[in-house]
Amino acid sequence: MKPALIVALDVPTVEEMEAALTRLPDTIEWYKVGLELFCAEGPAILEPLKRRNKKIFLDLKLHDIPRTVANAVKTAASHGVNLLTVHAIGGRAMLEAAAEAARECKNPPKLVAVTTLTSLSQDDFTDFGIIRSVSDQALALGNLAISSGIDGLVTSAHEAGALRKAFPAALLITPGLRMPDGEVGDQKRVATPAFAVSQGASHLVVGRPILQAEDPSSATAMIFADMRSVL
Ligand code: C5P
Repeated sequence: MKPALIVALDVPTVEEMEAALTRLPDTIEWYKVGLELFCAEGPAILEPLKRRNKKIFLDLKLHDIPRTVANAVKTAASHGVNLLTVHAIGGRAMLEAAAEAARECKNPPKLVAVTTLTSLSQDDFTDFGIIRSVSDQALALGNLAISSGIDGLVTSAHEAGALRKAFPAALLITPGLRMPDGEVGDQKRVATPAFAVSQGASHLVVGRPILQAEDPSSATAMIFADMRSVL
């Protein structure tokens, strides 16, 4: 499968989203809507994207009891989203209920699981009473999610190679990407789009390097060229 580029619409209002969509090139087929924008505007925020025939990655990181998550998956699917996130730490029953709910939908979204938030450190793990390493935990939770019927995982590009080896058919969504000369911002372990593709990523999430570029069209073209360079 040819890897896809997803642009993260990390803006606070529909007005700013519309302004961003006007500036961004048509070559972008996928957009990610996260909690900030979805909480501000509700499901209506997805309409401008659907009008433009864009694919939607709804990043709500669902984590609750199985029934609640299953119903949220069905509701999200009814809004026409293509990719939806859940937390692997919700456990097998929650993951299986989410996967089953998705399968029952008319237009089933693909579900991808967050294994470990990148903001968590080994100290947080100690607080939780978890003794294995962050990377072992990611692999174990990845296994739990995929064996529960979830379609893929959200991962740093640095762990994508190991996950691709372990889960050959999974979707692998990699954020935290920068061009070699790009500003890193608050991201800690960045990688280039080419590296993410070389490690087996299926979907690359990019926000600020495109949204805040002076010329978003040429920034996007450079990222696509970098992705293609290793195919
Ligand atoms: O602007 P930037 O390219 O850093 O944006 C990356 C996007 O991916 C943001 O929406 C961020 O919340 C998301 N993300 C991330 N790291 C994760 C999970 C999601 O950067 N581990």
